[in-house]
Amino acid sequence: MATEAEEIRGIGHSVRRKEDDRFIQGKGNYVDDVKLPNMLYLALLRSPYAHATINGIDTSKAAALPGVVAVVTGELMAQHNLAWMPTLSGDTQAVLATDKVRFQGQEVAGVVAEDPYVAKDALELIDVEYDPLPAVVTPQRALEDDAPIIRTDKEGTDSNHIYHWESGDKDATDKAFSEADVVVSLDTHYPRSHPAPVETCGCVADVNPATGQATIYMTSQAPHAIRTVFALVAGLPEDRIRIISPDIGGGFGNKVPVYPGYVVATAASLLIGRPVKWIEERYENLISTGFARDFHMHGEMALGRDGTMKGLRVSLLADEGAFHADAQPSKLKVGLFHVVTGSYDLPAAHVSADGAYTNKAPGGVAYRCSFRVTEASYMIERLVQNAAYELEMDPAELRRKNFIEKDQFPYKSATGFEYDSGDYHGAMDLALETVGYEQLRKEQVAARAEGRLLGIGLASFTEIVGAGPSHDYDILGLKMNDGAELRVHPTGKAILKISSKTQGQGHETTFAQIVAEELGIQPEDIKVMHGDTDNTPYGLGTYASRSTPTVGAATALVARKLREKGRKLAAHLLEVSEEDVEFEKGRYFVKGAPDKAKTIQDVAFAAYTNFPAGMEAGLEGVTYYDPPNLTFPFGTYAVVVEVDPDTGDWKVERVVAVDDCGVRINPMIVEGQIHGGLCEGFGTAKMELITFDEDGNCIGASFTDYLLPTAWETPKFELGATVTPSPHHPIGAKGVGESATVGSPAAFVNAVIDALWHLGVRNIDMPLTSGRVWDAIQAAKARA
Ligand code: CDP
Repeated sequence: MATEAEEIRGIGHSVRRKEDDRFIQGKGNYVDDVKLPNMLYLALLRSPYAHATINGIDTSKAAALPGVVAVVTGELMAQHNLAWMPTLSGDTQAVLATDKVRFQGQEVAGVVAEDPYVAKDALELIDVEYDPLPAVVTPQRALEDDAPIIRTDKEGTDSNHIYHWESGDKDATDKAFSEADVVVSLDTHYPRSHPAPVETCGCVADVNPATGQATIYMTSQAPHAIRTVFALVAGLPEDRIRIISPDIGGGFGNKVPVYPGYVVATAASLLIGRPVKWIEERYENLISTGFARDFHMHGEMALGRDGTMKGLRVSLLADEGAFHADAQPSKLKVGLFHVVTGSYDLPAAHVSADGAYTNKAPGGVAYRCSFRVTEASYMIERLVQNAAYELEMDPAELRRKNFIEKDQFPYKSATGFEYDSGDYHGAMDLALETVGYEQLRKEQVAARAEGRLLGIGLASFTEIVGAGPSHDYDILGLKMNDGAELRVHPTGKAILKISSKTQGQGHETTFAQIVAEELGIQPEDIKVMHGDTDNTPYGLGTYASRSTPTVGAATALVARKLREKGRKLAAHLLEVSEEDVEFEKGRYFVKGAPDKAKTIQDVAFAAYTNFPAGMEAGLEGVTYYDPPNLTFPFGTYAVVVEVDPDTGDWKVERVVAVDDCGVRINPMIVEGQIHGGLCEGFGTAKMELITFDEDGNCIGASFTDYLLPTAWETPKFELGATVTPSPHHPIGAKGVGESATVGSPAAFVNAVIDALWHLGVRNIDMPLTSGRVWDAIQAAKARA
């Protein structure tokens, strides 16, 4: 047996992150650190208009500037059939505008120069003749009969409507509503927000004119899928394209799509025969790359007088921007939004969704959420809280009454998901106990008597992660399965190659811990490689908390394969039959004689030096994992706020977050993920606002307007955990990366509404800036 001192730091250990050694010493290797001999620089010219016809582009002055090597326009791209590219939703998107521009900040031309500053200066010398058109800035306006048509490039298009999609049973839901004692409703807008990673997007494209080999260093969360898309778009053989995603300074969904800059840089490198670097500036990132959310939602809940939920009806209108570029599984137009029934046993539900083009940047990315689950969770948790007030019930009590019970799992939801496991009471009880809920409600009454506005907000969310099972989940036809390849070298050190791509989540540490758990090799002896399409197994990428449920499972299973081969080798070394060999924590030993043993390191050496006749040499394997189901992490968050009645400002007094992501591989990393998500949820609820004026000018494309919370504003978080393992996952783990972003915005907003409901305030759309809160208080007073 391993002694205390040798304890294997596998699952459940808060191992310090291996990757931090290089990051804290400034030795990370980001795309902008890549400097190749003879490299050129690309800068992009962007449209000042949200909607305008392009009548001509004169590039002659820019081309004449010393240091400029080439000026690329849509017309040039069109000559190579590259003016348009497919989006992740199967729509098309302009790489460089040819006919007209469709959002402010759209890519119009590119300058390639010897020096990045020359490239930027030359942009000012390009003359574009625009003819402005009226802009469409809301999806409601987009669907009016006389709205200007945005996608005139699409033959036969006579409206801005993109899709209509439904889920659930309409008749059963109508019946539930007709029989209900009480119906409550909520109209709300989940505003457009931006993932805003610290590192902006960029690439270095290096096409070798002699060999035709394209090596592209790219800030991508999904390098394999992007390579396939590149091969299809450019008509290049896939084996000649190598995408390397080195260290990534945060992705949060922003680095999933293919951006025009990647395509223009690659085309320029191909045409010029030299490497080309393109690195976005901050405003470019905020104005043009994948936004998130922007759902206008209407929800209704039917209840019995005693608070029993009978039915849910939700309709939504999605503002998709100028190109439909949502990163969603193909079958699901609004992602997994139909998990909007949340943690509740709702016998009937019906969801309908429509998407519309507007003159805004495209996106709809899975910003720290599994395909629109954040919007769904916000909708149901706001609606439940309001229902409680209207029924004059305690919001915790209403939730308790309607939670899916522990013994109801696996639970089939009214919109067709099979929830794998859950203990919603357990998480809520712990959160309420930690925050001191009963006492707080008493303090709230006393505070109100003094004219103070104290509020307690809850959110009991259910996430849905780990897309996904091949029968239902694909992106552009690519099944959402992932792989892991593992080799144990003769000296017992291992290399694990994974299809996921870490961008701060600590995969180099946690995935090594999974192998450590299975094989008994310490995590520091396991090197984890990722992000290089030539050297890692195929996979769909890292977003939507899918890494642990998919790649984590593949990692455990490939390690188990090696463990079984190791058993054969151990039997050979111990001269016993395979059935007599047992394995525990890195040791193979003879049943009933635990001292007769060989370590995993002995066995690994034998795999190359002393293996039985007829056995292949080596200790390595690869596994692709097709999950049988998604996983369903959950939790309850409790937030306490005090609102200043004179200014509308609100301060967070307490945040208690209880999360259940099944078995925690690395509890410290999980807590870090939750801190990040809570901070993002807080930012969305309180301060982040990216909006547009009536001409489609983007307001908020800088960090002086788009306010991200810093350590100064961010409240203190108190975390708690319950553990309900996923029954079908090889190590019982559920993903967690996004849960806190999914669960927390509703908890913050519910807390503010809780403070103000008695004044007559029913809803305030995020962000709850002090001005908006103050306005809502004044409006409620005026109504009263
Ligand atoms: O796909 P992404 O990495 O964003 O999400 P995830 O799979 O939810 O994992 C986020 C990080 O938390 C990874 O480093 C996971 O390995 C780790 N994690 C964990 O240690 N235990 C869990 N039960 C879930 C995630």
